[in-house]
Amino acid sequence: MPLSTAFIATERPERYVKQLISHMGHKADAKHTGVGRGTIAFRSGTCSLVSSAQKLILIAAAADLDSLNGVQDVIARHLLRFATQEELHLTWSDPKPGDAVEIVAPVVDDYLRAHCTPPGELLDKLAETTREATGRAAGMQVAADEGALLQMLVRLSGARRAIEVGVFTGYSSLCIARALPADGYLLACDVSSEWTAIARPYWERAGVDDRIDLKIGPALDTLRALPEEPAFDFAFIDADKGNYPGYYQEIVPRLVPGGLLVLDNVLLGGRVLDPAFQGDDHRAMRRVNETLAHDERLDVVMLPVRDGVTLARKR
Ligand SMILES: C[S@@+](CC[C@H](N)C(=O)[O-])C[C@H]1O[C@@H](n2cnc3c(N)ncnc32)[C@H](O)[C@@H]1O
Repeated sequence: MPLSTAFIATERPERYVKQLISHMGHKADAKHTGVGRGTIAFRSGTCSLVSSAQKLILIAAAADLDSLNGVQDVIARHLLRFATQEELHLTWSDPKPGDAVEIVAPVVDDYLRAHCTPPGELLDKLAETTREATGRAAGMQVAADEGALLQMLVRLSGARRAIEVGVFTGYSSLCIARALPADGYLLACDVSSEWTAIARPYWERAGVDDRIDLKIGPALDTLRALPEEPAFDFAFIDADKGNYPGYYQEIVPRLVPGGLLVLDNVLLGGRVLDPAFQGDDHRAMRRVNETLAHDERLDVVMLPVRDGVTLARKR
C-alpha cells in the first residue's frame, strides 16, 4: 500500500519546494524537475513535490508501509520546521497501491469516450468477434477512443510507411492502415498466427489488406532484420512489455526525421508509479519511460489516455 498524497494549503508552495530540495540534498538525491517541482529520493522511497496555486502537493511512494511512514515522517518534520511564518496542516491520505490509482476519473472517462468519432460498424464487429473468440484476452485490444487517436495521429503526420508491434486481432492495425494513403505500407508484427487470423477478413473488408505486411515471429527479430536506415514515418508499440526498451531502441533509428513513435500502456495500470511493483515488465517500462524523456533525438509527451500513451516525435 505504498502511495500517499498530502495537499497543504499555503501562500508559499514554491518556497517550500526550494527549501526541501536544498536541505534534503545533503542526505538524499534531491533535485528540481521543473518550475516549482522536485523529487527527493531516499533509500527507502521517494517524495515528489508539486507547487500549484496556493497549494503544496506531496506524493510519497515506497515499497512497503514502514518505508512509506519513514518518508512521510522525514518530509513532514522538515516542512513544518521551515514554516516559521504560518501554521501548516499536513494530513497524508491513506496509502493505496499504484494499481488502485484512477488515471482518469470515471465520470470524465465516460464523457471522453462518448465524444470521439464513433468507430463504425466494421471496428465494432471486430471488437465483438474478438470478445467471442478470445474471452478475457479481448481486454488487450485498444479501446475505440485510442483507435480514433491512432487514426488521427497517422493522418496528421501524413505517414506512408508504418510499423506496428503487437497486432492481436488487428483492431489497431486496421485503424492505422486505413489512415495511410492507398499506396501506404504497414509492417505488422506479432507472434500469434491464431489471433492474427481473426484480423485478415476484417482488413479485407476494409480494403486495406494489401497495405498490411503481417510478419509472424518475435518482433525484435523482425525489426532487427530491417535495414538500419530511416524508412518509417510512424510506429506503434503495443506488445510484451519486457521488450519495450528493445523495440524503442530498434525503431528510433528507423524513423525518418519528423516520424512519430507511439507507445501504449506506459502507466501499466498505475503500477509504474508504485515501487512495490518490481516485476520485469514494471522495471522495463520505468526504464523506457525514463530513457525516452531524456532522449535528445526525440520530443516526448505522455498522455493519460487509457493506460497511458506516449508520443515521441523524432527531431
Ligand atoms: C496488447 S496485444 C496487442 C493489441 C492490439 N494492438 C490491438 O489493438 O488489438 C499484444 C500482442 O503482442 C503480441 N506479442 C507478444 N509478445 C510478442 C513478441 N515477442 N513479438 C511480437 N508480438 C508479440 C501478442 O501475441 C499480442 O497479440
